[in-house]
Amino acid sequence: FRTIIEPFRIHSVEPIRMTTAAERRERLAAAAYNLFQLHADDVLIDLLTDSGTGAMSRDQWAAIQRGDESYAGSPSYFVFRDAVRDLFDFAHVIPVHQGRAAERILFTVLGGPGKTVPNNTHFDTTRANVEATGATAVDLVIPEGRDPASRHPFKGNMDLAALEALLAGGADVPCVFVTITNNSGGGQPVSLENLRGVRALCDRYGKPLFLDACRFAENAWFIREREAGQGGRDVVDIVRDIAALADGMTMSAKKDPMGNIGGWLALDDPALAQECRNLLILTEGFPTYGGLAGRDLEALAQGLKEVVQHDYLRYRITSTAYLGEALQQAGVPVLTPIGGHAVYIDARALLPHLDPLHYPGQAVAVALYELGGVRSCEIGTVMFGRRPDGAEAAAPMDLVRLAVPRRTYTQSHIDYVIEVCGCLAERAHRLPGYRIVEEPDALRHFTARFEPI
Ligand code: F0G
Repeated sequence: FRTIIEPFRIHSVEPIRMTTAAERRERLAAAAYNLFQLHADDVLIDLLTDSGTGAMSRDQWAAIQRGDESYAGSPSYFVFRDAVRDLFDFAHVIPVHQGRAAERILFTVLGGPGKTVPNNTHFDTTRANVEATGATAVDLVIPEGRDPASRHPFKGNMDLAALEALLAGGADVPCVFVTITNNSGGGQPVSLENLRGVRALCDRYGKPLFLDACRFAENAWFIREREAGQGGRDVVDIVRDIAALADGMTMSAKKDPMGNIGGWLALDDPALAQECRNLLILTEGFPTYGGLAGRDLEALAQGLKEVVQHDYLRYRITSTAYLGEALQQAGVPVLTPIGGHAVYIDARALLPHLDPLHYPGQAVAVALYELGGVRSCEIGTVMFGRRPDGAEAAAPMDLVRLAVPRRTYTQSHIDYVIEVCGCLAERAHRLPGYRIVEEPDALRHFTARFEPI
């Protein structure tokens, strides 16, 4: 049959509180037009993020009951470690409370002034954690990855020539990172072939390769769908191939591992692992629980088994594409091909009357909430426009991300979102730009205060 169904049925439900446009206008003003400052029960459909917002399965809730809360040596740690190593066979698996804790620990050891960390595209917290040590974060995604209209099947790929130029140019590079899928570049996958190319360069220049692997299963599904010779393979084997190319990984378990909280740092180098564990103990916890409860570790171990199932991934990728294709038909410019976890509206193309420094992405995100109670996330000049030296510049793209929480919304929720976006497209030419009236020094998008111009 043509219809791909959700490979689950609903077991427990959460109410959605309806609001009117007038109420939402009030809430927006009170939140200084920053959607991170809204109360979530004032949101109808929350597409702010796919991070920690998914529904856990019956079997994950059952695993929570098995959680063992021993301070040291909990059996739940070993269940978790073995589930991670079944896919990513690194010698040391260090649990943390979420991905950015793994980043902070790793870059505290590897970063520092004068160092340069390349990535296809650093996620905001990754960039901030690199820069917080005084190191420089550089994004070396292929040129197609910066072109919203390019149809390249692996727009997350690293620009190998640019990476080689950096490594050969004598930059002090402590490690090379690849983010799968490339979230800030539109949830776009990286091919196995490209990862092999990165590995070869890392070997030639003696650099360790780390994965930021939050959405590894979605990336592996795209490899299965799009890369020559990968079509008939089990996603688990593709994931193991990816892992075998790397020396380590940072992970937010709030994404593909289906957790509401969690993450890990995994790596092979015993001396580096020891240094990281020492930092872990300082702020996260003992190495067999990191920042997590034993029950969280059990839920993640079960989530890792569920996320690599083909029925789940087929539904996941197809339903995200359903949203993206419908938006295109409604005249909303979106980044193509459609990503794995989200659809990205090209706000710069939708609002050509606004200068990037008047934040077209913010204008779209605010309007989606006001019109239909849909919360999205600006990924553009608000998020990336302020440079470490204090200057402000337009980000390469001004996108608005509609991130789809895993196993949470039904098709009619998504049909409603499509209708709201269509309505927005008709009014796009009238939307005002925004200015920032107050902002912190780093990661300004979370707390900045805006006003319409
Ligand atoms: N790396 C990537 C690629 C991410 O997408 C995220 C989080 C992190 C690292 C940090 O993980 O939140 O567990 O500390 N992304 C979320 C998002 C927040 O909305 O895309 P974390």
